[in-house]
Amino acid sequence: MVKDQARTDSGAAPDAGVFGARILDLAHQLARWSEQPDDLTCTYYSPAHKAAAAQLRDWMHSAGMSAEIDAVGNVVGRYASANRDAKALIVGSHYDTVVDAGQFDGRLGILTGLVVAEHLRHAGRRLPFHLDVIGFAEEEGVRFSAPYLGSAAIAGRFDETILRRSDTNGVSLAALLQSEGTGLAAIRALARRPGTLRGYLEVHIEQGPVLLQRGLPLGIVTSIAGSGRFRVAVRGVAGHAGTVPMTLRHDAATAAAEIVLAVEERCSKAPTLVGTVGQLAVPQGAINVIPATCEFSIDIRASDDATRDAAIADVIAAIARIAERRGIAAEITEIGRHGAVPCASSMQSALAASVAGAGIEPFHLPSGAGHDAAMFGGVTDIGMLFVRCGNGGISHSPLETVMAEDADLAARVLLDLLVNLD
Ligand code: HGY
Ligand code: MN
Ligand code: MN
Repeated sequence: MVKDQARTDSGAAPDAGVFGARILDLAHQLARWSEQPDDLTCTYYSPAHKAAAAQLRDWMHSAGMSAEIDAVGNVVGRYASANRDAKALIVGSHYDTVVDAGQFDGRLGILTGLVVAEHLRHAGRRLPFHLDVIGFAEEEGVRFSAPYLGSAAIAGRFDETILRRSDTNGVSLAALLQSEGTGLAAIRALARRPGTLRGYLEVHIEQGPVLLQRGLPLGIVTSIAGSGRFRVAVRGVAGHAGTVPMTLRHDAATAAAEIVLAVEERCSKAPTLVGTVGQLAVPQGAINVIPATCEFSIDIRASDDATRDAAIADVIAAIARIAERRGIAAEITEIGRHGAVPCASSMQSALAASVAGAGIEPFHLPSGAGHDAAMFGGVTDIGMLFVRCGNGGISHSPLETVMAEDADLAARVLLDLLVNLD
């Protein structure tokens, strides 16, 4: 995995801080492309999303890489090996964002790969494998509730049933891709054969407070949590807010509220188990009408699938009990379930060697967040390097911050790993 002779120097890395300053500058520039004037929102195939993709492709070209935007919007750059028949090592992450996002979730990983590839080219340093830096187009799943769409296509795990999903304007994914000139054959053609891959690495902000609390700039990921995502529609009975006695109501919103608390209570029962209701609405609600409908999402995760699945089963049973007692109906739609994925021990060891080489204590931790890396688990060896999050570890928020010196260290560790990987 890592060359056993004395470690190769990383090819005269630039002065300390150069990588970090460049990464943050590029992240700030990329954040210009947004669907909102006052925040960063960049969702699948919006004009801002397309502009961000073109920007990444142009930066990859300027870095001396071949680069293209593929059939589902991934930006694929290659710093080729001298050996045409070499395998490819993918360094990737996503450029789409949640609504009102931070500038570093996903993008940090793409830009770190970009600046390292640029450095290798300037140093005239070829690797024994092609270095593919990929900006995945759709990881968050905001528009079609289809997370990891871009990485799944390249990993050969694209779920074709999601093509029937529609966005809030009633546009189906299939119609959208067709309007971009993409059909099923083009999606299927993106799948990499596992034998052509050397591995997959992702640099990502931790999106939590652990590294911050331990005073560490970097961490090595052991596994990526599995998640189950659902949409629930509670159907009760509308009524006049002033005339229907409380004992005669079938209020969809109060039933939903009890279900939300049941999710919280059940998902507080195991260390790595978490449950979140991130979206909740009373469609066409009015201040003086008892809600007939309440719709919400449920996201349940754990570092192992058995814990997660047991919690899901208990929550579904709790919903049935609450519905029975309150005389309402609850329609539960599962929109996705992704298993927990371990990071390859070989990649964890390679990352640990490079982290130690940078004078940092190698610290291993699980990821509660999902990542594109999970799509490549079982396809090739995957590794993830976490970078400390500032502001208490907040993410999926404009308060998300990364220090330039931490980004610099991440790039140096990635560079060192790449030049020492055989
Ligand atoms: O939801 C997640 O864990 C990731 O940010 N998409
Ligand atoms: Mn995210
Ligand atoms: Mn992310």
